[in-house]
Order: sequence, then structure tokens, then C-alpha cells
Amino acid sequence: MMRIAAVGDVHMDADVVGRFRPALELLPDLADVLLLAGDLTRHGTAAEARHVATEFGGLGLPVIAVLGNHDHHCDEVPGVIDELTRAGIQVLEGTGTVIDTGHGRLGVAGAKGFGGGFAGRCASEFGEPEMKAFVRTTARIADRLGTTLRELDCDVRVALTHYAPVPDTLTGEPPEIYPFLGSYLLGQAIDSAPTALAVHGHAHAGCERGLTPGGVRVRNVAHPVIRHAYALFHINGAEPVEPPREFAASH
Ligand SMILES: [Fe+2]
Ligand SMILES: [Fe+2]
Repeated sequence: MMRIAAVGDVHMDADVVGRFRPALELLPDLADVLLLAGDLTRHGTAAEARHVATEFGGLGLPVIAVLGNHDHHCDEVPGVIDELTRAGIQVLEGTGTVIDTGHGRLGVAGAKGFGGGFAGRCASEFGEPEMKAFVRTTARIADRLGTTLRELDCDVRVALTHYAPVPDTLTGEPPEIYPFLGSYLLGQAIDSAPTALAVHGHAHAGCERGLTPGGVRVRNVAHPVIRHAYALFHINGAEPVEPPREFAASH
């Protein structure tokens, strides 16, 4: 059995430091890895990323992250990544990593993702150059995510994104903003490999559970949705089971 902890949208700044830490200190006994699903900061400054490093660094288990749109806002992505990396947090973007958990090799493919919407109501690569660039950006990121997932040499595959791969986990968000919350192309990428679990964030008003068209379980782990320091998933083969999540953050 592999044990995965995950949370997104912690939106750290100085005022949040210390709120997650007591629950995080329990993680080495509870999980094989902690996944951070982006929007780790509020405005994407290196100073905010330093607070992420303080809160999520040195936990005694692998911590793997993707960035979110907020982490890009101040155009300090290299500085943000540097702060996280120096704290031992591995940042993925179109890349993957494999962890030997002691009970199998867990492969994680990560990408921020992007928008575009979902089948039947999505942006298409047509018209103005800006519109084509928008859709091509998502397509490129999704292609890379699919390739990374397929190439992972592991026993269990997990996809980690910030944007949503399915509309299911957006239930609760205004339908008008779905195209800015995710893309079906990410779901197709996840379905192109035998993926056991897909976790994402970004949709603060969404819901927890969804399924790709190919049957992969999708979980929205945005902190405002899960309302705990992290969600825990157990994977037996390809079947994730969620244990009780009593390890709440102190807010
Ligand atoms: Fe967020
Ligand atoms: Fe976001």
C-alpha cells in the first residue's frame, strides 16, 4: 500500500506560518510522500516562497510540488523555485520523479496545467493568434504531462497538477469561469497512461471527488475544499482509499 498526502492552495505568507506545521510533523508516520498542488504563495514572490520553505521543508518525507497561477504572478518563478528547492521540496513542471517507498515505486508526473475548458464548452484553436496561443499553451502542457506519465518507470502513477483535469471537481464554482479552472486536455493526458490517482487544486469553491472519462480518480485538494492540513490517500494497486482525515490545520 502506498500512502499519499496532498494539499494545494495554501497561499502562504508570514501570517500563515506555523498553522500547518503541527499536522505536517505527523506525516512521516502517515504518508510516503506529500504532494503540493500549486498556489503555494499569494503573489508568487521569493519572500513568500521562503515562508513555504519554512512550513513545508525538512519534514522527513519527500515533498513534491507544482506551481500554481499565483506562484507566477510577480514573475519571480526562478526565485520561488530556488527557495523551495533549497528546502528540499522538488518542483515538477512537465517532469516526473520516482520514489522508492519501501513497498513499491511511486511515480509522480507534475505540471501546473492551464485553462481552456471542458468538452462541449471549451476554447478551440481558431481565430486570433492570442486565442490560438492560449489553446496551444494548454495542449503543449497536457502533451508533456501525458508523455511524462507514460515514461515513468514505476509501480503506481500519480498525476499532480494545479489546474483541474475534469469538470466534476469544479462543482460549486460559477460555470462561467470553468474555462479558467482547467482543461479536458489534462484529463486526456492522464487517461493516456495507467494513472492511479490525479490530484489538483485551484478550484477553491469546487468539490473533492471526480473521475476522468477513462475512470481515473481525481481529487481536488485545494485547502479551502478539504479544510484540513492535507488529504490522505491510500493506493492498493490502482484503488485509492481515503482514510479519515482528523489531522486538521489549526484554522
Ligand atoms: Fe488558489
Ligand atoms: Fe490557482
